[in-house]
Amino acid sequence: MSTGSTKVEAVSAPKILGMKKKGEKIVCLTAYDYTSALIADRSNVDLILVGDSVGNVIQGLSTTLPVSLDAMVYHTQIASRGVARALLVADMPFGSYQVSVSQAVESAIRLMKAGAQAVKLEGAYVEQVQAIVAAGIPVMGHVGMTPQSVHQFGGFRVQGKGVKGEAVLKAAEALQQAGAFSVVLELIPSELSKTITEALEIPTIGIGAGNHCDGQVQVFHDLLGINEFHFKHVRRYAELGESMHIAISQYAQDVRSGAFPTEVESF
Ligand code: KIV
Repeated sequence: MSTGSTKVEAVSAPKILGMKKKGEKIVCLTAYDYTSALIADRSNVDLILVGDSVGNVIQGLSTTLPVSLDAMVYHTQIASRGVARALLVADMPFGSYQVSVSQAVESAIRLMKAGAQAVKLEGAYVEQVQAIVAAGIPVMGHVGMTPQSVHQFGGFRVQGKGVKGEAVLKAAEALQQAGAFSVVLELIPSELSKTITEALEIPTIGIGAGNHCDGQVQVFHDLLGINEFHFKHVRRYAELGESMHIAISQYAQDVRSGAFPTEVESF
């Protein structure tokens, strides 16, 4: 029966896998709330990631380590209300999957109940990935510069240079073998991304990993120029932070001078 409303074909994990086979590039953007998710979804991105980068861009933290599972559940809930088409992936935060396989499955289930359609975790936690997949939950892997391991890496720096690239390739292959439907490659040399992308059947989604990946992911606030950081791997498609500053300053000036509100803006 037709409802008369416009139907949107929702993106699924199998569809993301199929996009690699068809040679279609995959577009992923982070979002952390209803409004940002709605804007991303209406802009036709394929994947919306409720990233634990919420810690950096929303909570003002310098690392993602303090981000809690409760916070990820909350942000997944509010972002999910804005999503009609894209596949909504929720990040599993630090400490929500490393302890045990059962902890990982329980955490993933909480995120799915909050509205996620897939989860992402960092590193080659093969047993955890296998168990989450066995519970019917699509898993996205994440290798290279995995921010939850920043202290082990000694800072946010490019990983997998030279012979160290082999370990990143092996981790990505292990995640594929465990059942992941895609894998994020973060801050690794472009040539290594090429090797990994060619070696895997599942799509690679890059951030700071060059142009050979099957797709790209960017952080909402970086892409739109809302924050003050300028990273080499980010293209700022707008300078909304500056536009917001100008608009709010003008508002403040108008309130102080009495220019806002006018009769037209009053009842
Ligand atoms: O948390 C995040 O935003 C991420 C992406 C950068 C891949 O993990």
